[in-house]
Amino acid sequence: MHVARTRQELARATCYVRQSHPSLVLVPTMGALHAGHVSLVAHAREIGGGVIASIFVNPTQFSDSGDFNRYPRDEAGDLALLAQAGCDAVWLPQVTDMYDDANATAVDVAGPALGWEGDARPGHFRGVATVVAKLFGQVRPDIACFGEKDWQQLQVIRRVERDLALNVRIAGVPTLRESDGLALSSRNRFLTQAERRAAPLLYATMLAAARDIKAAAAVDDRLGAARHTLAASGFAVDYLALVDGETMSGVSQAGPGTRLIAAARLGSVRLLDNVAADESGTTQPKLTLDDQAARQSRHRSGSG
Ligand code: PAF
Repeated sequence: MHVARTRQELARATCYVRQSHPSLVLVPTMGALHAGHVSLVAHAREIGGGVIASIFVNPTQFSDSGDFNRYPRDEAGDLALLAQAGCDAVWLPQVTDMYDDANATAVDVAGPALGWEGDARPGHFRGVATVVAKLFGQVRPDIACFGEKDWQQLQVIRRVERDLALNVRIAGVPTLRESDGLALSSRNRFLTQAERRAAPLLYATMLAAARDIKAAAAVDDRLGAARHTLAASGFAVDYLALVDGETMSGVSQAGPGTRLIAAARLGSVRLLDNVAADESGTTQPKLTLDDQAARQSRHRSGSG
């Protein structure tokens, strides 16, 4: 695995990877990697590309410098995980590669960036959009993979790519879950044992509400009942809403591409999740750590 720490090393690494692959796939990350990130790399490999991951804890997407300083960092562990996952190269920019003293430009976002996480974390999506545009400019990938776990972020990035004609195909990667349904997240490590036991209720409650909404239950009543269920188990629900899965606007009935999205706090940990709730009646299969382990073993034996 090529490790690039300067723009020059990055140019060399992308050149090597392009020589032996039909396309270059970028997996942008902020490090503190876990099996969810490994599944992004696995997806990137499956769509046929040479894979370059980036690790950069982006200061402009944190509204609080305390959160930025506390964000977990483990470069050695991250590099080992990426190598094991079959990543071809890693880009480790310095803050000055992204934001030098003369930096005067940022990507302004509206549309899908408004509301929900946009309200909870002012400036967050502007920071994400700006750093992703810079990464695209530096790495020049053909495809970039982002987790569906951060559904609103994925829609913001799709819109930025389209509006700025960045010419990168954006691939959404299904959320990886523990066997009890909890979506993998770097924040899960901060749950107490009791909170960890309660946490899967978020996904279970959302699935049940999505099923009823698809079967034509009154949306406001059904979401009210779901909020009540969660509150009774100790969740402080920031939002639980039915939205158009592309524009992120709230909607009052299931239709093509509608999505149920939620943010809820358990103690100090804010959990995000989302499930399909469109009128087609199809339910996304749950992708678990066991599926991921089988995929990795196929990769190691060269059959996948
Ligand atoms: O999802 C993340 O890890 C970050 O928001 C991203 C896309 C790497 C931008 O910093």
